[in-house]
Amino acid sequence: MNMRVIDLLNQARSRELGAISQYMIHYYELKDKDYGKLARKLRDIAIAEMKHAGELASRILFLNGEPLSRPAGEAVKGQEITDMLKTDIAIESDAIDLYNEAASLCAAEKDQASKDLFEDLIRDEEEHLDTFENVRNLIGTLGAAYLVSLTGK
Ligand SMILES: [Fe+2]
Ligand SMILES: [Fe+2]
Repeated sequence: MNMRVIDLLNQARSRELGAISQYMIHYYELKDKDYGKLARKLRDIAIAEMKHAGELASRILFLNGEPLSRPAGEAVKGQEITDMLKTDIAIESDAIDLYNEAASLCAAEKDQASKDLFEDLIRDEEEHLDTFENVRNLIGTLGAAYLVSLTGK
């Protein structure tokens, strides 16, 4: 049993669980404010993170470790849309940094499959980051006109 790798996988799982909780809070808050279209993006990304948390748990179990279920950080409530995006961008950027580091460490530990898993996660997190940055940038350049397009179902 490689505890170093299992530990990295659990750290990642903890981040994923924290991200799910944060994105679902944003989903409910946005939906409540009638920003249905933006809310849906948050829900879809939360579902992707649930898949990640599951994949990490499967890998941990395969390595005979114990998947932990403690979310990282404390989810923030009641943010304005631009602050929500700041929070979400930070979650994705931090995950990308951590997973890149983790992929290198898995390679050093000669665990190619765990390294591959981290690389798959990085590609998804980069997409999520791109989605959040695009929304932030469009709000920055188009302002209210773009915000209107995020309302409704
Ligand atoms: Fe993720
Ligand atoms: Fe993500």
